[in-house]
Amino acid sequence: MRFKTDHLIYGGDYNPEQWEDREDILEEDIRLMKEAHINEVTLGVFSWAREEPTEGEYDLSWLRRRVDLLYENGIETILATPSGARPRWLAEKYPEVLRVDETRHRNLFGRRHNHCYTSPVYREKVWEIDHKLAEEFRHHPGIKAWHISNEFGGDCHCPLCQKDFRNYLWEKYDGDIDNLNHAWWNTFWSHTYDSFEQIESPSPRGENSVNALDLEWKRFVSHQTTDFMKHEIAALRDGGAMQPVTTNFMYDFDGLDYEELAKHLDVISWDSYPFWYGKEDIISASEHAFYHDVMRSLKKKPFLLMESSTTSTNWMPVSRLRRPGILENASLSAVAHGSDSVQYFQIRAGRGGEEKLHGAVISHYGGTDTRIFGETRRVGEILEGLSEVAGSLCDAKCAIIYDTQNRWALEDSYGPRNTGMGYHDLARKCYRGVKAAGLDTDIFSQDQDFSGYKLIIVPMLYMFRGDFAERVEKFVKKGGILVMTYWSGVVDETDLTYLGGTPHGLTDVLGLRFEEIDSLPDAEYNHISPVSDNSLGLTGSYFADKLCELIKPNGASTLMTYDEDWYAGYPAVLEHEYGKGRAYYVCADMEEEFYREFIPAIAKRHRIKPLIADVPYYVDVASRVNDSCRYIFIQNYGVLEEKVKLPAGCEVLLGSADGVLPPASTTIVRVDL
Ligand code: GAL
Repeated sequence: MRFKTDHLIYGGDYNPEQWEDREDILEEDIRLMKEAHINEVTLGVFSWAREEPTEGEYDLSWLRRRVDLLYENGIETILATPSGARPRWLAEKYPEVLRVDETRHRNLFGRRHNHCYTSPVYREKVWEIDHKLAEEFRHHPGIKAWHISNEFGGDCHCPLCQKDFRNYLWEKYDGDIDNLNHAWWNTFWSHTYDSFEQIESPSPRGENSVNALDLEWKRFVSHQTTDFMKHEIAALRDGGAMQPVTTNFMYDFDGLDYEELAKHLDVISWDSYPFWYGKEDIISASEHAFYHDVMRSLKKKPFLLMESSTTSTNWMPVSRLRRPGILENASLSAVAHGSDSVQYFQIRAGRGGEEKLHGAVISHYGGTDTRIFGETRRVGEILEGLSEVAGSLCDAKCAIIYDTQNRWALEDSYGPRNTGMGYHDLARKCYRGVKAAGLDTDIFSQDQDFSGYKLIIVPMLYMFRGDFAERVEKFVKKGGILVMTYWSGVVDETDLTYLGGTPHGLTDVLGLRFEEIDSLPDAEYNHISPVSDNSLGLTGSYFADKLCELIKPNGASTLMTYDEDWYAGYPAVLEHEYGKGRAYYVCADMEEEFYREFIPAIAKRHRIKPLIADVPYYVDVASRVNDSCRYIFIQNYGVLEEKVKLPAGCEVLLGSADGVLPPASTTIVRVDL
């Protein structure tokens, strides 16, 4: 199913069931939404108890009336299935639907997301309510899409899940327990299994020392959650609903392999709650830009920003306000990086419950003369003027390999650092380097096809799966540019170390071989400096901390060396020509500034054209393309004015015409292709 919108969607989560006794509020909300240029609401995310007050008795009339009324007023609905939280009667009558935690205790009823994805009863009940919703709304012109459940996550360790886990392993290891024992290295500490029946999910009270078990459990949880989500989609389709489906992903969430779920969705959406309030917050801004790029790359298509906050987010340790202008910049950052929507949690703040003090479009005061309402109205106006951007794509020439399964293995393994390997941080630093080079980038796992890109950056890819190394070899041989860092290609897909030299399968491509890795305690560091006349013209010296690798060059030339400790003078950054391409290797955990010199130097040397030249530190540049033009978004996240050179012949859609960027501002230009 194709998701398509001819305008940018603007709206968010709306909970009219909390206000059923206030007809005046419903009317007022619609009036205020129209004033804020809101054209969409997400309904029904947690409405199961209202939709099915007692088992088998459904009441969707209140929902129907609201969907109708909103539609008559130009507001479309993304309609949720309510499985993210269940009615009390369901848990009371069928306790098996409640989750069992890793210590093997079943939860009581309460909160949300507290259900077993395996339970046949839960699946049956979810099927019935989803089916009813589909029957009711399948032909409704106001339904833009379906929102499956809410923020899938967590695991359940009940006997039903254990049984499915064993079946999953049985399939994967061809029913041969020796295969599994071998792949998991179970002779270690005498942990050999005699049969699949003996396998249990990891537990702090039991087995928690087998890395491969931890990995397979995480894979199983992704598999089972995906299966549950597919079950919900099937219920909607069986009920006749043919609108596109999505589910809302989360920021930096590694509890699931989102690439698994993404295969079954028509459009990706995610919830972005930045620790980003203003004042030179380039790091938070770029973190969120990074995640927008991750989400877009899941389908290489526009995604939806399903939730964000107009201002404070009340589940954070402190609920900071977003400074004036940040909402606009953050919203446009999503669009810049490929979103076809800006949506909030929440349209109206409720009076009670855990989220009553969370930011909203409509506050408890209820008027339009508030700072936040004014800012949301302004965002609405801007988005309305940017309709032509909807549907445009990203044609990045660069890709960063950022891999959830690698993260699982890397962070689970004992050594070389048990106090944080810094995977996410390293990927983000590489990202900042790409942005300093004025490039767009896709970000995806090692399983995706990267053959058409010019530059691929592979930070700390500890686990190489399948034919990854062979594909990289081909890529470089044919003229691709590779940047790889320390601690790559160490283990296979069940966390067994490779023998015979690492990075596995790429020692010839890189012209070097790993020898040792030193882990520095916090607050200790080394320095790295360039060798004279290095081919990239690197001039800066930089801090390195956390991890410093010592390698044996075998054909690669040295661009930078360590300055200190007994390995002063050892190579720290290397380059190797291979086939028609080039491979660069970074041995240590360098500070961000290194990447801001290194990646632009590589891009320049290999003629990968920037969107604009000389991107200032506090500025982010991203672009989207359609058949006839490119939209370039230039955002200043700093507190000072910045200046850039706009592309020749561009037409300004928003912001500055002379390249002068006021603090916290966005300029958007269109360039004909
Ligand atoms: C999200 C969730 C919403 C709401 C929001 C508050 O994670 O999906 O339902 O709770 O957080 O920030």
